[in-house]
Amino acid sequence: MKHKDQLLNALRMGVIPSSDVQTLMVGKRKEKEEVANFIQTVGRGGSQVRFFNGPYGSGKTFMLKYLSEVALSQNYIVANIPIHSGFGFSKLDGIYTNVMNHLSVRLDDGKGSSFERIFDYWIDNLKASGNMSDATRSIYSVIKDLNDYNSSFSNVLLTYIRAKINNDFDLANTAAAWIKGDQNMSYQLKKQLKVKGSVDKENALDIFKGFVRLMHLMGYKGVIVTFDEAELIMQQRVDIRLKAYGNMRQLIDSSGMGELDYCGFIFAGTPEFFENEEKGVKSYQALYQRIGELIKGSADVVNMRQPVIELKKFTKEDYTELSHKVIKIHQEIGGYELGVPIEYMVNLVMLESSKLIKEDGLTIRIYLKKLLELLDLLKDNPDLPIFKAMRRRSD
Ligand SMILES: Nc1ncnc2c1ncn2[C@@H]1O[C@H](COP(=O)(O)OP(=O)(O)OP(=O)(O)O)[C@@H](O)[C@H]1O
Ligand SMILES: [Mg+2]
Repeated sequence: MKHKDQLLNALRMGVIPSSDVQTLMVGKRKEKEEVANFIQTVGRGGSQVRFFNGPYGSGKTFMLKYLSEVALSQNYIVANIPIHSGFGFSKLDGIYTNVMNHLSVRLDDGKGSSFERIFDYWIDNLKASGNMSDATRSIYSVIKDLNDYNSSFSNVLLTYIRAKINNDFDLANTAAAWIKGDQNMSYQLKKQLKVKGSVDKENALDIFKGFVRLMHLMGYKGVIVTFDEAELIMQQRVDIRLKAYGNMRQLIDSSGMGELDYCGFIFAGTPEFFENEEKGVKSYQALYQRIGELIKGSADVVNMRQPVIELKKFTKEDYTELSHKVIKIHQEIGGYELGVPIEYMVNLVMLESSKLIKEDGLTIRIYLKKLLELLDLLKDNPDLPIFKAMRRRSD
């Protein structure tokens, strides 16, 4: 019950629930297909960069969460990263560090996830297999493979794994911090790891490729990174903004050249982000052209699908279906009967919402907030004239 209470509270506040997005999901048939295709392509060793485009409150964060839930349930590693003022996508090493610090994975032991947990789990399984010599061989072959990407990375990783196996927690923590992109590591600590530099803007992409390869070797289907609120890039200083767009372009190019196999990136942004000529994607022609070329589906582009997935507006049927789900939960928690046909309720919510917004501006967020406001009111005051009238009309 507490869980359902939390769900309704999230909707009251206009945000997405923290779990069970798949159960609440209504409509968006085409978008769900695109999501399934995106996940599958990554799992087959492909690489994709895609974008969700939808106005405020249209369900972008919700779709990203849906995508994450589906991907996690299919054994992918997911990193959800909100773009905010402190982190603007303008530095590749910053992006890398953010990805490494936001990793999620579904582990059988249900202990939550992080870079360290992924490894603990892997090493525990190797140890449990009872055959440490096979396990050691498998570790060395992984490390050897990674040497091609960046030798510091593979060295530190080897140190990390050895420290883990030997229960040397301090050394393991230092190595994990280096791998996750710690920029402020002392010379002494780096010496312990036998490396000189850190993850920086020159090597970040290679190290990330190595990481994706590693995850794949460890049995995960792929790595999916989501970036929410891309429109915030528009608010940044022009030089920072252009660097961010340059990095997006680089991701698209690396992905198109097959350098980021088993990895997918997905951004969510408002229409302004895609259309604003002064500060949006259109202000950086090299990026805009790439997205544009993909839209035209030129023959040398492997993925012929549009990179930008538009979030379609909800139909009346979608709003009705969503209302059914929400009302059911609201009744369960409140222990009452609506006593009013749901269609009437949908019409009332639509009418009330239209007082708040301009024509055509109805979004799922506005609708849900209004619906819950009215349901709360009805539960406590079933005899208000408006509800009485609805009941009378339905008799
Ligand atoms: N397909 C859907 N089915 C059911 N509920 C949805 C769906 N899409 C969105 N919602 C709900 O609508 C509300 C707004 O969605 P969300 O926060 O994802 O919008 P957004 O596009 O990210 O908005 P913003 O641009 O302001 O960040 C949330 O409460 C969410 O749970
Ligand atoms: Mg959002």
